[in-house]
Amino acid sequence: MSIISSFEEYKQQYQQSIENPEEFWSQIADTFVWRKKYDSVLKWDFNKPEVKWFEGGKLNIVENCIDRHLVNKARQTAIIWESNFADEPSRHITYQELFESVNQVANMLRQQGIKKGDRVCIYLPMIPQLAFAVLACARIGAVHSVVFAGFSSGSLADRINDSGCRLILTSDGAYRADKTLDLKSIVDEALLKCPTVEKAIIYQRTKGKVTMKPNRDLWWHEVVGFQSKACEAEEMDAEDILFILYTSGSTGKPKGMVHTCAGYMVYTNYTFKTVFQYQPNQLFWCTADIGWITGHSYILYGPLSAGATTILFEGVPSWPDMGRFWHVIEKHKVNIFYTAPTAIRSLEQAPLSFVNNYDLSSLQVLGSVGEPINVEAWHWYDENIGRKNCPIVDTWWQTETGGIMISPIANVTPLKPAFATLPMPGIQPAVMSEKGAEIIENNVEGRLTIKFPWPSMARTIYGDHQRFRDTYFSTFPGMYFTGDGCKRDEDGYYRITGRVDDIIIVSGHNLGTAEIESAIDEHSSVCETAVVGFPHTIKGQGVYAFVICYEMPKEGETLRQEIREIVSKIIGPIAKPDKIQFVRGLPKTRSGKIMRRILRKIAEGEVSSLGDTTTLLDPAIVEEIKAGAL
Ligand code: PRX
Repeated sequence: MSIISSFEEYKQQYQQSIENPEEFWSQIADTFVWRKKYDSVLKWDFNKPEVKWFEGGKLNIVENCIDRHLVNKARQTAIIWESNFADEPSRHITYQELFESVNQVANMLRQQGIKKGDRVCIYLPMIPQLAFAVLACARIGAVHSVVFAGFSSGSLADRINDSGCRLILTSDGAYRADKTLDLKSIVDEALLKCPTVEKAIIYQRTKGKVTMKPNRDLWWHEVVGFQSKACEAEEMDAEDILFILYTSGSTGKPKGMVHTCAGYMVYTNYTFKTVFQYQPNQLFWCTADIGWITGHSYILYGPLSAGATTILFEGVPSWPDMGRFWHVIEKHKVNIFYTAPTAIRSLEQAPLSFVNNYDLSSLQVLGSVGEPINVEAWHWYDENIGRKNCPIVDTWWQTETGGIMISPIANVTPLKPAFATLPMPGIQPAVMSEKGAEIIENNVEGRLTIKFPWPSMARTIYGDHQRFRDTYFSTFPGMYFTGDGCKRDEDGYYRITGRVDDIIIVSGHNLGTAEIESAIDEHSSVCETAVVGFPHTIKGQGVYAFVICYEMPKEGETLRQEIREIVSKIIGPIAKPDKIQFVRGLPKTRSGKIMRRILRKIAEGEVSSLGDTTTLLDPAIVEEIKAGAL
């Protein structure tokens, strides 16, 4: 399957992928190393739902991401690690070194008794050992569950327990700009509630003081360094679990999305090469954290399976100053740069001198992911970073989809600012009316669904297939429902308008309102809470909490502070409410359901169009909330 190089070719390949998906995907699958070729390309039934790609095939994804490149690329850099500290030397890790480091960690895991199918939690900062840990699990067939190292001990414990992890890989601490985060004490607190964890392996990053628990905790350097640099990779079935990654849901319990080996490998590789039009020897930088799906798919698996050089960045865009991204681009001569709208919007606030101090002429392609990019940020990115010379690929996808679904193809698809444009080959989106009918024509708005399976779709929610079905396959039976709203314009271009469910996207992080509500309810003064999103100039969406207390607070600031701290402790700092309004009651229907639609409008400041409130138990409460809106 040739890489698409013109819009005509895109249309042809798209057509072919729809008419004959099995032939299309098998041609791509045949570019990988299989220990045994698959017997069938696709078996599926969205009613169950059950999806199997490349059944009967045997492989190991790490052999495809590392081993096969050693013939020609052993000395090529696989990963460039860029520290939190601009003056700490960056590290260039060749494919050979990556191979050896991954094997040592893999051997250590095997020595600790970890076998194929065991779950391993990874709670590490963005350091090379995070990449080694992920790939080491995949090499021995252990299921990795990476938890973003900004989550609190409670969130970490919930995720460990949900999948019954046997071992955790972590570090003493993490650097974040000028702060040090005590990861090990967060882990210690979490593990008090995690009976399945037998061992914790601690990497020394900050050299802070930690307490080691005998018989449980081991120093990374004491158990990894002496291991053999060779390690036989486990033979995996195509549909064996590769990893679990948690995402927020509309109940308080996070969902462990399950991704499997072969389909995920094929699709992340294909989309990496196609969307970004990756050319050998280009340098690719995705600024996401490996704690999220973007990092899994487009820092590690996609680029490495393509034999690319990928940057792993420990720092933040704003420290030591607002020019850090641009400094890194100049320093390493980055060719493809993939970031999030929230980062673009925050950097846009800084004087242009932070950009203009650096030579960004190496850039060839820009990308955006995680939330809708507003037209203004799009133009700023285009003019000041791309110098009107680089296509912007606005890539729409989800943790659940594993890889990019709707996106321009760089230098191929004619762009429209803020449009994710057209589906990737093999992806069949449909716009549905609220009543559940597919809208065929263009120039419409509705709910975004996908009608046909693609290789990297999540197969289930770990331990809860019924929830998987209820969440994604029951709203529109026989289709995958994304939870997003969209518009399709006269050219058939898609523009994603945002979530239509109870998930809000704050600085690109997916948060369930129910999760935040139950955290706020933990405060002893709080009786009930409703959380909604509101437009925020930098974060995209902010968190707005309407809180009922047992006694209306006289001076709210102390309580607000306490509530923010509780949320930060229970979920993590990313979920802290931006606005907390104390109210006497919430708009509820006669059956007791909170009318979030009304609260959303109030939070958005659109109080003139609240719609029908007559069905409410106490319509007067709406007026009161409106009057006190922040
Ligand atoms: O609402 C969409 C938004 O992010 C959601 C998925 O979040 P998550 O699973 O955390 O994965 C983020 C990284 C892939 C989607 O349901 N979203 C993601 N990309 C875009 C987007 N919204 C608009 N435009 C995008 N390019």
